[in-house]
Amino acid sequence: MSFHIPVLLKETLEYLQPQPGQIIVDGTLGGGGHSLSLAKAIQPNGTLIGIDLDPAAIEEAQKNVDSEKISSKTIFVKGNYKHIKDIINGAGFEKVNAILIDIGISSYDLEGSHRGFTFQKNEPLDMRFDPEAVPHNKDKEPFTAKFILNHYQEHELKQIFDDYSEDKFSSRIARGVITTRQEGEIETTEQLFEIIKKSLPAKFRFKAGDSARRIFQALRIEVNHELENLQAFLPDAFESLLPNGRLAVISFHSLEDRIVKRFFLEKAIGCTCPPEFPICQCGKEPQAKVLTKKPIIASEAELKDNSRSGSAKLRVLQKLI
Ligand SMILES: C[S@@+](CC[C@H](N)C(=O)[O-])C[C@H]1O[C@@H](n2cnc3c(N)ncnc32)[C@H](O)[C@@H]1O
Repeated sequence: MSFHIPVLLKETLEYLQPQPGQIIVDGTLGGGGHSLSLAKAIQPNGTLIGIDLDPAAIEEAQKNVDSEKISSKTIFVKGNYKHIKDIINGAGFEKVNAILIDIGISSYDLEGSHRGFTFQKNEPLDMRFDPEAVPHNKDKEPFTAKFILNHYQEHELKQIFDDYSEDKFSSRIARGVITTRQEGEIETTEQLFEIIKKSLPAKFRFKAGDSARRIFQALRIEVNHELENLQAFLPDAFESLLPNGRLAVISFHSLEDRIVKRFFLEKAIGCTCPPEFPICQCGKEPQAKVLTKKPIIASEAELKDNSRSGSAKLRVLQKLI
């Protein structure tokens, strides 16, 4: 298994236009697929700052960079991209030329992490990107998919399944979780898959895999606070850019793409007056230009080689001032 094949790599490089000597941040290092190409493009004296919550990703990226003998400086940090400002400062910089995040799930997460990201393997229901994340609650139980499934109330489960999976059987699946856990804790991906399958009307059970994929994604988003991270990251990342700096986001979920699209538009429009005002009263100027009028999606060729690129959307913003 390769750690991960980078998605939309060519397009990301085209839009970010990395140049020798630049400082670039990759907020989701993964196996270092994007980072490796970016670090090469900024040689000989550029700096690449790579961030990931997962120590295994950092180790893999380090190995890949070492094997390529890249002359740019690389600084890898175990952390959350939502702390991008502190991480950039900690690396000795204030502003950078470009920032990328690729907020999908890596092949390693699915196939090699043993943290229960997929129903296709029988594993404990963990789903934390950061396997060392400290417990959030006083009982000292880590905030994992298992915690959610065994402690959330029915309406809370329904809410996350509705919002993050948009599965039409969300209510039935939430009910199925509540009923099953009365007989004992839900601990494994296999148990969860069985609950999902049994909760579907009989004639839809042959499609249980589709519902399971969506429900697993919803749990992953909740466990890792993925939407909150993105919301916190965008303004700080924008502020951390030098004039003309570029910010690229590759997302895989419509809710994430909507957050990115709205943020980019807000920066590009400037004026915040209500639409019924005939002329602008606020005087706010555009701070950025959206370089991708429509999101960039994978080419036929990439789709053929890497099915994970199917739902990827790349949006890129350039700071003006
Ligand atoms: C799709 S992979 C990135 C793949 C990478 N672009 C490549 O081509 O090799 C996403 C990575 O982001 C990491 N991650 C997810 N949320 C994060 C966060 N809030 N902060 C830092 N890393 C995060 C995951 O651990 C995972 O390694």
